[in-house]
Amino acid sequence: MTVFNLGSINADLFYDVPHLIAPGETLAATRHFRGLGGKGANMSVAVARAASRVVHIGAVGADGRWAVDRLLEYGVDTRHIVEVDDPTGHAIIMVASDGENAILIHPGANHAVTETHIADALTEATEADTFLFQNEISSQVAGATQASARGMRVVYAAAPFDAQAVKAVLPLLDALVMNEVEARQLSDAIGVSLTDLPVRDIIVTLGADGCRWLNTDTGEDQTFPAIPVTPVDTTGAGDTFTGYLVAALDRGMPMEQAISLGQQAGAIMVTRHGTADVIPDLKDVQDARL
Ligand code: ADP
Ligand code: NA
Repeated sequence: MTVFNLGSINADLFYDVPHLIAPGETLAATRHFRGLGGKGANMSVAVARAASRVVHIGAVGADGRWAVDRLLEYGVDTRHIVEVDDPTGHAIIMVASDGENAILIHPGANHAVTETHIADALTEATEADTFLFQNEISSQVAGATQASARGMRVVYAAAPFDAQAVKAVLPLLDALVMNEVEARQLSDAIGVSLTDLPVRDIIVTLGADGCRWLNTDTGEDQTFPAIPVTPVDTTGAGDTFTGYLVAALDRGMPMEQAISLGQQAGAIMVTRHGTADVIPDLKDVQDARL
């Protein structure tokens, strides 16, 4: 009944600019804002907001203590976030006045997570717990291998993915969560259709069209419509959906209910500007009665 999330922690550094920067140009930003980001951190916040226990396994540099403090404020167990010599992972996000953006990512400390570090964190884990991971971090295969050996429920939010890494972990997974584009890329990259993947539960999110759940044991393939809302900012919808889904599965909820909760949280998320800092909590979800 605890989610151990091996995931990235990023500083999202936003800069408003008159236009996207050109080669050789020096440009002054008109506004700057720093937010907590990274798929890993977003999902840990979503799991905590969904009222499940979550232990984040990750790394930051000395410049990332604020990010760890913020995760702690949101209810994430941060004891297994280590401080390393590399800088904290970050994204430089330029947003032009016409709304176009350009993003530069540096994985930094996210790539300094080691097998031993994961093993330390997982000594606390039992069969009743869930191991969640994404692709923005090092030692994913080692982490999934250890979690699977401990009998944990293993869930991979495979985005953005590296086909070879995904192939190596597929046999260890209980569930795979991807958006439509990632699902297509995965099938193409490894030359196997979704229905033939060696994973029991495959969840494909379809944005405003909801999501699809493939149960490869029974062969059932169901689509669940999204909750109709007027979107203002779709960033973070997928991470919010996945965090809620995993929190619910970890508490023993059946898949249909977990999907329903994920879709309610995802729908609220697209009505809000921002990422980790605006993920709805369970009370927001209940009050919205979507
Ligand atoms: P990602 O952000 O990873 O691309 P999606 O866009 O597929 O993920 O969104 C994840 C989930 O969030 C969807 O399955 C859906 O439940 C919800 N969602 C996303 N966009 C909308 C929308 N426009 N209206 C209602 N729900 C949405
Ligand atoms: Na949003």
